[in-house]
Amino acid sequence: AIFVPVRVGPQHHVRSMPHIVAPSLLSADFANLQAAVELVDRSVAPWLHLDVMDGVFVPNISFGLPVIKAIRPHTKKVFDVHLMIEEPQKYVQDFRDAGTDRLTVHMEACTHLHRTVQSIKKAGMKAGVALNPHTPVRTLEDIIADIDLVCLMSVNPGFGGQSFIQNTYNKITALQELIAARGAGCLIEIDGGVGANNAADLVRHGADVLVAGNSVFNTPDPLTAIAALSGGQDN
Ligand code: DX5
Ligand code: ZN
Repeated sequence: AIFVPVRVGPQHHVRSMPHIVAPSLLSADFANLQAAVELVDRSVAPWLHLDVMDGVFVPNISFGLPVIKAIRPHTKKVFDVHLMIEEPQKYVQDFRDAGTDRLTVHMEACTHLHRTVQSIKKAGMKAGVALNPHTPVRTLEDIIADIDLVCLMSVNPGFGGQSFIQNTYNKITALQELIAARGAGCLIEIDGGVGANNAADLVRHGADVLVAGNSVFNTPDPLTAIAALSGGQDN
């Protein structure tokens, strides 16, 4: 079990809620997605993370709208959709219609990010912005007050099972400072290379949401892995 001490101090925000674990379906058995979704449904994780890749923004193709629509009836968990695609603004309403609750677009894929964020919110979803490992947190300065979540990529997006980039810790600190400076209220999500070895550290540093693919689905007991990442709660 991972025990996460509650941090109370001037440089950190006070955590009144436990962190959120968002298992990523990318590492599940694609021949049996229904079973994977039902497993997450039975778990303590409140969100299901869904990675959409177009083979252009990232060098891989995963799944898209029809798959999200097909799995939607099998769980009430929050659908946290991470778009790794060019021109995401074209598909905002389509993702809403497929059952998306929270839609995250990449800073690097959006020329008119402010307009895209507004359209996500107008469609009835929470809006997130993801940053690639090389993109500085300061590029969020003029959008941070408008968004519900920042996804810090802790690997280069495109594939599951990669190793965690340590500089992410510095980015969490910079992001906390930016959120505090702007009086913003957005969640900090960490995506890539998260597992039992770093989950508690990430939460201690200020992560609100932990995405986990490989460390959940490529283990013999995914339910126990989710529970451990959640802080050792029972299923
Ligand atoms: C990577 C995806 C991640 C991926 C994480 O491009 O955005 O959500 O599923 O996988 P792990 O947890 O295996 O690093
Ligand atoms: Zn992701």
